[in-house]
Amino acid sequence: MDELETALLTANKNSLSDVGSVLDRMDAVLGAAVESERDPTGALGRQTVPPEMQRRMGGWVTGAVAAMVRLQARDQDPRVDEMLDRLAALNADIARLTGDAPALVKTWRFTENLTVDIKELSFEEAAFGWQTWVAGVVFAHLLARGVIPVGTDPILELGCGTGIVGIVAAKMGAKRVFMTDYMPAIQANTQSNVDSNQCQHVATVHSLDWSWIAENTPIPKDSATLLPQLLDTNSSFDVIFGADICYELIHGRLVPPVCARFLSLSPNARIYFVTGLRGERFAQDIVQFEEKMTLFGFQPETCLDLSLDALLAQETDSFARNLLNAAFSTLVKQFRFYVYRRIMT
Ligand SMILES: C[S@@+](CC[C@H](N)C(=O)[O-])C[C@H]1O[C@@H](n2cnc3c(N)ncnc32)[C@H](O)[C@@H]1O
Repeated sequence: MDELETALLTANKNSLSDVGSVLDRMDAVLGAAVESERDPTGALGRQTVPPEMQRRMGGWVTGAVAAMVRLQARDQDPRVDEMLDRLAALNADIARLTGDAPALVKTWRFTENLTVDIKELSFEEAAFGWQTWVAGVVFAHLLARGVIPVGTDPILELGCGTGIVGIVAAKMGAKRVFMTDYMPAIQANTQSNVDSNQCQHVATVHSLDWSWIAENTPIPKDSATLLPQLLDTNSSFDVIFGADICYELIHGRLVPPVCARFLSLSPNARIYFVTGLRGERFAQDIVQFEEKMTLFGFQPETCLDLSLDALLAQETDSFARNLLNAAFSTLVKQFRFYVYRRIMT
């Protein structure tokens, strides 16, 4: 925080490199605040951004936008456009922090012909379903490139958040997608994203709380949005999707039993996960998750670690390259892609 304070005082708003380095520091401070919110152990301590600093960051960003607009009029430099995009994104993050942000709609362009608009909420409204996570973007990218097939079977999506994965699956030709999450505010936002992307004929949004299955907590059977398959113990899916749904220790206990309940016994049935690898601090979450998947009768057919470089190395399409570069400009840089199947005896 001290470094950011110094940078705010000394940086030249007319210099692209000065503005870029202030934005890097702001990203780090805002990112640390979000990470500390996410730390279930509290070991990181609460890293809040004091209201005074939020105001100063907001004021500085507004000043930098004005300087960049002047620079743009003079130089027509494409790097200035990029900087203005970054400033706009940071402005939205700061506004969300202060709780008075308008809804933010992000456009994700996967290929020349595949674009989705995804509305985000605030953390206060939707906890971890507030934004589109990079693992979701990576998952959707793998769908768009055909690495994860949509096939013809109905798909169950767990922890859909803002909905990028289910929506891209629908746009890639899936016949039916059941998108699920557990908070009403998240479901309402996902529904509005499904509607605004014209996927409502294929994708439906439902409530499914993993603890109903893993911990036997009561299912609100009269809920209008309840996943219908919950009420029929014989119904199952041949395809399950999950992006970034293992980010706390407890998810290692919750997600595998949900997969065991819903994945069909067909030898062709598969579960696809993309999970963010958040370094040593969260390594135990991943270990527990993988152990429990084995315990619940699943084996990985694919288990592949992905980085930005690895993904870019396989990518020539400029839209996909831009998408990946934009998505990876956050703290999480490594992902694990799994394809699980049942262990056949
Ligand atoms: C990190 S977010 C990922 C969201 C989305 N898949 C993406 O990649 O953008 C994790 C999602 O899991 C959902 N989730 C967490 N615990 C859950 C539970 N017990 N039952 C159902 N969903 C849950 C959260 O609400 C959130 O939307």
